Amino acid sequence: MKIKVGTGLILGLLLMGCSSSKKTIETTEVLEKKQVVLSSEQAEGKMLYENNCGKCHALFSADKFSKEQWEPIVLRMQKKARITDEQRDLVFNYLVMNK
Ligand code: HEC
Repeated sequence: MKIKVGTGLILGLLLMGCSSSKKTIETTEVLEKKQVVLSSEQAEGKMLYENNCGKCHALFSADKFSKEQWEPIVLRMQKKARITDEQRDLVFNYLVMNK
């Protein structure tokens, strides 16, 4: 009797364990799509972009241009924004990080 109860308990725990870990995976997948986790470099690029690139015009959404389009634009705008090459690269990498 004791053994049976014990086995049942373990089986139950295993099943619970399986179903809850499955739920966890699903939640994580949803989160991964919505949550944008920025590396420190990307966060710096975002900050530089927001502080330097919205002075003369509204900030353009990163989605508005492809990687190939952003490259010459960022080069052209670097001169207007008077940012260093390193800052330009951070801005560029931030703008194209999902491409
Ligand atoms: C000194 C003012 C000024 C600053 C600072 C500036 N821009 Fe611009 N930007 C302009 C002007 C003027 C235009 C429109 C004329 C042109 O395309 O040169 C423009 C146009 C753009 C366009 C549209 C380009 C296209 O081809 O349609 C984008 C995108 C853009 N800027 C991004 C940026 C980014 C990124 C930065 C920061 C690195 C930045 N801008 C900083 C003045 C500025």
